[in-house]
Amino acid sequence: MSTSEISGFYKKTMSERLSIVQRMGNLTEEEARVIANTGPLEAEMADRMIENVVGSMPLPLGVAVNFLINDRDYLIPMAIEEPSVVAAASNAAKIARAGGGFRCETTDPVMIGQIQVVDVADPEGAKVAVLEARERILEVCNEKDPVLVKFGGGARDVEARVIDTLQGPMLIVHILVDCRDAMGANAVNTMAEAVAPLVEELSGGRVYLRIISNLAVKRLARARATFTEEAIGGKDVVEGILQAYAFAAADPYRCSTHNKGVMNGVDAVVIATGNDWRAIEAGAHSYAALGGHYKPLTAWEKDQKGNLVGTIELPMAVGLVGGATATHPTAKANVKLLGVKTASELARVIAAVGLAQNFAALRALATEGIQRGHMSLHARNIAIMAGAKVDEVDRVVERLVAQKVIRVDRAQEILKDIRGEG
Ligand code: MEV
Repeated sequence: MSTSEISGFYKKTMSERLSIVQRMGNLTEEEARVIANTGPLEAEMADRMIENVVGSMPLPLGVAVNFLINDRDYLIPMAIEEPSVVAAASNAAKIARAGGGFRCETTDPVMIGQIQVVDVADPEGAKVAVLEARERILEVCNEKDPVLVKFGGGARDVEARVIDTLQGPMLIVHILVDCRDAMGANAVNTMAEAVAPLVEELSGGRVYLRIISNLAVKRLARARATFTEEAIGGKDVVEGILQAYAFAAADPYRCSTHNKGVMNGVDAVVIATGNDWRAIEAGAHSYAALGGHYKPLTAWEKDQKGNLVGTIELPMAVGLVGGATATHPTAKANVKLLGVKTASELARVIAAVGLAQNFAALRALATEGIQRGHMSLHARNIAIMAGAKVDEVDRVVERLVAQKVIRVDRAQEILKDIRGEG
């Protein structure tokens, strides 16, 4: 490849950029066309959303069924490339219905903005001075976002801590902002920047960082569901799931995968609704580690009747206004399909999906293992990778599964055979 230093790349049109990368990346006309296809997201819109745009990257969108959440039925759009996730969520939701579905709740949608103050001569004194000026700080913050205040949100409280760091003590000021239906990064960052000079004045220190925290401990979503022993498949399955949970709670290697399974469901809905899944991932894993040990985001117990009770609690900083949720046509349609009216309702739905996803994974793992369920979906991907056309996929899958050999080379042999080439 010639040099990747391309001056003024961002100023070029999308098609100019694409020609450059096509040439440099040796892409065929067909490959360039595939990249350039932005589907329902208009090219101009994509070009305004991020920088250096050349096209878009579609993901499959599935709809999870059977979800009963706080006595309401939902159809849940999930954007994800991994087979089995949507089927597993739907199946778990069906089993949960026998126990009344999911009960979910959320705290107020409060995000934390952090202001880092260094070079403070008397950090403890400065901390109290900042807390004393709570009302002034809130006023400065709220002046920055009258619209949020009008909708019932805005800066609500101030916290301050002195922390020890590699660079000595620092005063860390938190502004707590009720973001209502916004994810809130813009509002919080704007407020944190606006209030920084006042914090410098109050503390006598110097402010460096002014930024939202993704460890959104004030914006939690919780879900609970009872999976009856009968609907799950008996005592042994309940026992197996409890053993799986105990394993995750005691061992970070297992816990990472346990929480990954939760996030399979969470992220898929977050992405489908145009929300920031990196923020959700960061929040979830830091929350899981908050006690000093990395812990499962879910908990599993047996009730008096022998039924399995699952709960989940995690930060859920999702919004309905602003960002891609408000501009991406597929995200907009997905929000409508979901029928949620507030960001908190969306957060509750996502918590339920995370719990359902975890239940499905543990149940499969504690019984037959996940490979059997995965096999035919995995085989579909392998068949497509091997070059199977739409009308050939099913026949290739059937033979791969029958032979229990799910490999690209085998799929290619089967394809040759089907096409009469072998
Ligand atoms: C795979 O994407 C997710 C699982 O590994 C989750 C788990 O092990 O709990 C099945």
